[in-house]
Amino acid sequence: MGSDWMDKARTIFIEDSQQAAACRAVEVIESVVHESVASRDVCNIALAGGTTPIPAYQVLATRAMTGSIPWNRVNFFFGDERNVPPDHIESNYHTAQRELFDKAPVDWSRVYPMPGDAADLQAAAVSYEQTIRHVVGDNSGAGIPHFDLIMLGMGCDGHVASLFAGSALLDETKKLVAAEHVEMLGRYRMTMTLPLIKAAHNVLLLVTGEDKAEMVYKAVIEGDRSIPAMHIKPTSGKFWIVVDKAAARLAVDEIEQRH
Ligand code: 6PG
Repeated sequence: MGSDWMDKARTIFIEDSQQAAACRAVEVIESVVHESVASRDVCNIALAGGTTPIPAYQVLATRAMTGSIPWNRVNFFFGDERNVPPDHIESNYHTAQRELFDKAPVDWSRVYPMPGDAADLQAAAVSYEQTIRHVVGDNSGAGIPHFDLIMLGMGCDGHVASLFAGSALLDETKKLVAAEHVEMLGRYRMTMTLPLIKAAHNVLLLVTGEDKAEMVYKAVIEGDRSIPAMHIKPTSGKFWIVVDKAAARLAVDEIEQRH
């Protein structure tokens, strides 16, 4: 069974370490920012949640001190958020604020936390979608806004953003942002849906660590379509996959053969 991850329209990097993978991800991010700002004077990015992106945020922040990234032209959104306040240690916004926004010269008026702890999550999801349509574009509501880059991690169970295996949200075709109670977690989550993710000009999937090796194998070798991470290849954009050797341990031969 073919795997989207091995489709020719993607670029896959296997890096020696988590830090090397973070640096590779930063190269992709910085190139997208430079290109977008050079052509449209703006760049629209959705950041990943969890812990995998932290080394990449730290590298971005360090390079922001001396680099030439026009951070003040970047609009920052989030791919998903937990049901916690933005100052909570588990908040994906809090992680990005602590590791990146507090250290890089971003324009805070261009940072859009996802309201994962709103009292009315469904209404908050609609509102966040409206903000995306207004800021990123296509506020006609007819089309789907195209992010310049959507960055994602992957859970050990193959979930991406807060799209979990078996969720009806995987079949969502209208809502671009949605909220649901995730049985497996026993918690509510808010998340971008596949139509919005697949409309991006660039999707960057960053997966590191031995604990992800089994799932990377299933995705690369088996192309198991029940895995949410199998459905994020952009419709016409570029698909970047960055893994470290630990995460690629079981699939490295296949990847290198078909790379
Ligand atoms: C979240 C994330 C989620 C994350 C994966 C990987 O809110 O948890 O958005 O999709 O990317 O769970 O998490 P780690 O990077 O912590 O392994």
